[in-house]
Amino acid sequence: MQTNTRHFLTLMDFTPQELDTLIRKAIELKRMWKQGDPYFPLKNRTLAMIFDKSSTRTRVSFEVGMTQLGGHALFLSPNDSQLGRGEPIEDSARVISRMADAVMIRTFEHAMVERFAQYSQVPVINALTDDYHPCQLLADVMTYVELRGSIKGAQVTWVGDGNNMCHSWMNAARQFDFQLNIACPKGYEPNADLLAELSGRAKVIHDPQEACEQSDVVVTDVWASMGQEDEQKKRERDFANYQVNSALMAKADKDALFMHCLPAHRGEEVSTTVLEGSQSVVWQEAENRLHAQKALLLLLLVEL
Ligand code: CP
Ligand code: NVA
Repeated sequence: MQTNTRHFLTLMDFTPQELDTLIRKAIELKRMWKQGDPYFPLKNRTLAMIFDKSSTRTRVSFEVGMTQLGGHALFLSPNDSQLGRGEPIEDSARVISRMADAVMIRTFEHAMVERFAQYSQVPVINALTDDYHPCQLLADVMTYVELRGSIKGAQVTWVGDGNNMCHSWMNAARQFDFQLNIACPKGYEPNADLLAELSGRAKVIHDPQEACEQSDVVVTDVWASMGQEDEQKKRERDFANYQVNSALMAKADKDALFMHCLPAHRGEEVSTTVLEGSQSVVWQEAENRLHAQKALLLLLLVEL
């Protein structure tokens, strides 16, 4: 089954213009919420939220976001729904999407959200897979725009694993038109096909000191993502030279921002001094998940 419904599985599902509009709308929605302006465009609408992995920010931001827009969010875990007992994705998608107005999914295989979307009558949102985390990038770019203006032409350095977050930063470099340096240990490079598609906007520089030079943003993430817990010890050894600490931040531009999607592991990928320091914008990033995703829901459900 194929429908014309729009989905948000990666940042590539929207045009650069749509993404710019979405970020502007997110900033406007944040202002309206803080002013106390009533705005309920999603009255009587329901977002179904399927979580196969843990979450704090994503669950709270989507659930609160639906409440703020006048709608409702429904939490579905595999432990207490038929999703965990082997009901096929194709069947679950056709059933859930006949009742809910949008579906948000956090899971392991990216192919699962693609398959769900293929059978869904309503928009499907990727809330993190092993390959991508596009919702986080909406909040991260929004944060940069709030603090520094347009991110076009900026220099961003990713320090760490070539993981789902790194892949979404790569897509963002293409869609928002900035340069991305990727500092990762050998063997932890991002997807080679994605890198090849980026035509010079992203490059791997294994040395983190060199990669951070003159950067406007330094961003990192945990060394072992959800599903890689067994590799924690090996990764601690392999990533030992990739901690974002004051010495590394000193290589970047003096006004550089430090970003992290959270949760953070202090003393591993980031030092406490950097995470709690004046260049860190991690709490604003987390807060912006709420407003960026409200704009996303509006784009998918009622247009902007
Ligand atoms: N950054 C992020 O997605 O956080 P959660 O895992 O808490 O949702
Ligand atoms: N790379 C991390 C991001 C968590 C928000 C993970 O997948 O666990």
